[in-house]
Amino acid sequence: MSRNLNPSPLDGLHLDVAVCADPDGAAECAAGRLAALCAEAVARRGVFTLALSGGSTPLRLFRLLRTEAWAQRIDWPHTRVFWVDERCVSSADPASNYGAANRELLAHVPAAAIYPMDGEGDPDESAVAYEATLRAHIPAEAGMPRLDCALLGMGSDGHTASLFPGSPLLLPEALRSGRLTGAALAERLAPAPESRRMTLTLEMLNAARCCLFLVTGAEKHAPLGAALNLLAPASLPVQMVRPSDGSLVWVLDGQACAGA
Ligand code: 6PG
Repeated sequence: MSRNLNPSPLDGLHLDVAVCADPDGAAECAAGRLAALCAEAVARRGVFTLALSGGSTPLRLFRLLRTEAWAQRIDWPHTRVFWVDERCVSSADPASNYGAANRELLAHVPAAAIYPMDGEGDPDESAVAYEATLRAHIPAEAGMPRLDCALLGMGSDGHTASLFPGSPLLLPEALRSGRLTGAALAERLAPAPESRRMTLTLEMLNAARCCLFLVTGAEKHAPLGAALNLLAPASLPVQMVRPSDGSLVWVLDGQACAGA
C-alpha cells in the first residue's frame, strides 16, 4: 500500500456543504444533521455531547428543536450540552449564550445534563474550571475529550466561537499549549461587559467528530468565500477549524452564498 509522503492538513477531512433556500430551511437542515449525529453517537457510545454557540443565528434552530415535531428526534435524555463560548455576563443578561439557549430550547427539552460556562467569574479562572468540566463529562480518546458536535456560527469578520482575528489564542504558542479553553476579548465590543469572553480553543474544536457551521445572511458572504476555500492559507479564524478526524459541515442559506 503506497504511503502519502506529503500529508496535507486536509488529509482525512470530510467536507459537506448544504445550501438552503432561506434561514428556515437552513435551521431545518441543521436540525436534521443534529438528529443524525445524535442517533449515531448514542448508538455507538450511549451519549451525545453537543456544544452550542451563541449569537442570533442559532435561535431559529433552537426554537425549531423545541417543537413537538423535533423534540422527539433528538435523544435528549442521552444528550449532554456544553457551550462553545460565553460572554462574561450573568445568565440573566440578554447577552448570555447560556441564557438564550436555556430560554429558547433547553428549558423545554429533557437534556440529560447541561454544563454552562461561568460568565460571572474571572474569565481566566472560569476557563480553567470549564476545562475540568469538559474532561469530566466528555468521553476522551487518547486523553482528548471529543465532542460529537460543535455547533458553530461565523461573524462577518470571520471569527467563530470567541476566536477573533488577531486573538492571542490563535498564536502558535497558544495552539501548542494543549489548552481546551481560554479567555478572549471581542475588541470591537469593548469595553462592554459582553466583550469579555470564554471560549473553547481551536484544539478542542478540531478534536470534535463534527464541526457544524450554521451561517445565514448576506452579511456573511464575504468571509464565507474565504472560509470555503480549503486550499487557501488560513487568514481568518474560521478557516482554522479543520476537524482532524471528523466532518466539517456548512449549512448555509442562499443569501450567505449570493451576497446582497
Ligand atoms: C457568540 C458566538 C459567535 C457567533 C458569531 C455569529 O457568542 O457571539 O458564539 O461566535 O457564532 O458571532 O453570530 P450571529 O449568529 O449573531 O451572526
